[in-house]
Amino acid sequence: ATDIESDITEVLVTEEQIRDKLDEIAAQVEADYAGKDLLLVGVLKGAIMVMADFSRSLKSLVPMDWMAVSSYGAGTKSSGVVQIRKDLDTDLHGKHVLIVEDIIDSGLTLSWLLENFASRGAEAVDVFALLRKPEAAKVVVPCKYVGFDIPTDFVVGYGLDYAEKYRNLRDVAVLAPHVYS
Ligand code: PRP
Ligand code: MN
Ligand code: MG
Repeated sequence: ATDIESDITEVLVTEEQIRDKLDEIAAQVEADYAGKDLLLVGVLKGAIMVMADFSRSLKSLVPMDWMAVSSYGAGTKSSGVVQIRKDLDTDLHGKHVLIVEDIIDSGLTLSWLLENFASRGAEAVDVFALLRKPEAAKVVVPCKYVGFDIPTDFVVGYGLDYAEKYRNLRDVAVLAPHVYS
């Protein structure tokens, strides 16, 4: 439906690199959460791909829940206002929550989420983000597992969108500025 090639300037992280990294982090998580009541919480919609692949990289059975929040709308900059579109279905009491995110950009979404989770009775709340833009941080969010630190370019693919498009690209790629400027 779209000519993908002309919309992208560079592939930043390939499907293979993602797969290897997810296996590596899954092994760490497996060891770190042995004997603990782990709950994965995916942040919709961006985290769909990383949750699907990461959860299947784990060797043990792990429950998943989802929270839908949005701060970007159709633009390329965070509005700073986070809206809950769908709340969790799970009671967090006693759970060791691992939030699964596709990207930490300004950090506003996750810092808001961590605050929101603080009062829900979880035993622990930690974060796994596949991608992080250290130079874009407006707030620094404690992140236990990070896949890749990347530059500040606007990226799409592997769950990440621009105006709801490009989520189904297999790689993470830099969106050509002509698409949004
Ligand atoms: C994107 C991304 C993260 C968040 C990161 O979500 O998936 O959740 O922004 O940005 P931040 O660190 O600057 O807050 P978005 O609001 O676009 O919703 P989506 O996941 O449905 O695309
Ligand atoms: Mn998101
Ligand atoms: Mg988005």
